[in-house]
Amino acid sequence: VKKIAILTSGGDSQGMNAAVRAVVRSAIFHGIEVYGVQRGYQGLLNNDIFSMDIRSVGDIIQRGGTILQSARCLEFKTLEGQQKGAAILRERGIDGLIVIGGDGSYQGAAKLSALGIKTMGLPGTIDNDISFTDYTIGFDTAVNVVVDAINKLRDTMSSHERSSVVEVMGRHCGDIALHAGLASGAETILIPEVPYDLNEVADRMRQNFEHGKRHSIVIVSEGVGRGEDVADALKERYPSIDPRVTVLGHIQRGGSPTPFDRNLASRLGDFAVRKLIEGDSNKACGVINGQLVATDIEKVVKTKKDFNMEMYELAQRLSQ
Ligand code: F6P
Repeated sequence: VKKIAILTSGGDSQGMNAAVRAVVRSAIFHGIEVYGVQRGYQGLLNNDIFSMDIRSVGDIIQRGGTILQSARCLEFKTLEGQQKGAAILRERGIDGLIVIGGDGSYQGAAKLSALGIKTMGLPGTIDNDISFTDYTIGFDTAVNVVVDAINKLRDTMSSHERSSVVEVMGRHCGDIALHAGLASGAETILIPEVPYDLNEVADRMRQNFEHGKRHSIVIVSEGVGRGEDVADALKERYPSIDPRVTVLGHIQRGGSPTPFDRNLASRLGDFAVRKLIEGDSNKACGVINGQLVATDIEKVVKTKKDFNMEMYELAQRLSQ
């Protein structure tokens, strides 16, 4: 490859900028020209593409969001859209594309690869819902945001001897809830991967209060429903529980990336460039047990991420 492009797509995540910086600087180090695509696949279809140099990615490693901006693009899901995108890249002499995003973004990259553009995917999403990588870029920062919020909630909840329901993001994946729940000592973690019974949850909360607990945190992953509904159901069973509800929402997608996310993004960005130089294509880059790996995008998209049951059971045991 001689010229590559980079885009960020789908929901943004903290660390996308660090990945963009790594791609640009690594490519230039290896004598490759780099182009940025503004606003994801939509920007590609609009030919919104510009040349990037070493300085264009200065002072961004610490910033949340993405300087390339992101969008969800329906037109790119059609064959015509994909063909148009491939043609625009070819006209500019761009033969490689690095896509930072989640599942949907990976599918777009696979389509472009079938049309002759060499592609690499980087896992950029707070949800940690991508297989063949232990972590996605942004997940660690999102978990930190949730834990920080729960620390604050605990202060006021224990003063008033109240319980608190905290709704967190994750789409269909409970990892944010699980990791933040264990780290913050939540009593209950409701996630899509594990069935639950609200009668048991309510009974346990009441017993805990009777046995001297001064507050109680219930984390609800958005994949199981709304925090408000869980709080209403608990109150219906025992009016004395009366939890307060906090929906953390898009705050979880903002803020400066943690060093973990910056380093993950930097390693993966550089790795994707090196893979393209080797002539590889249609791969999703990830890190498994600390090692960088590249897996066929189709395989990654088709495989459901492993769920860490051992961690869930530990959270249960420690939350009595
Ligand atoms: O995929 C990231 C994510 O933040 C999910 O956790 C959430 O379900 C979704 O995106 C929210 O999407 P939007 O930003 O379009 O509201």
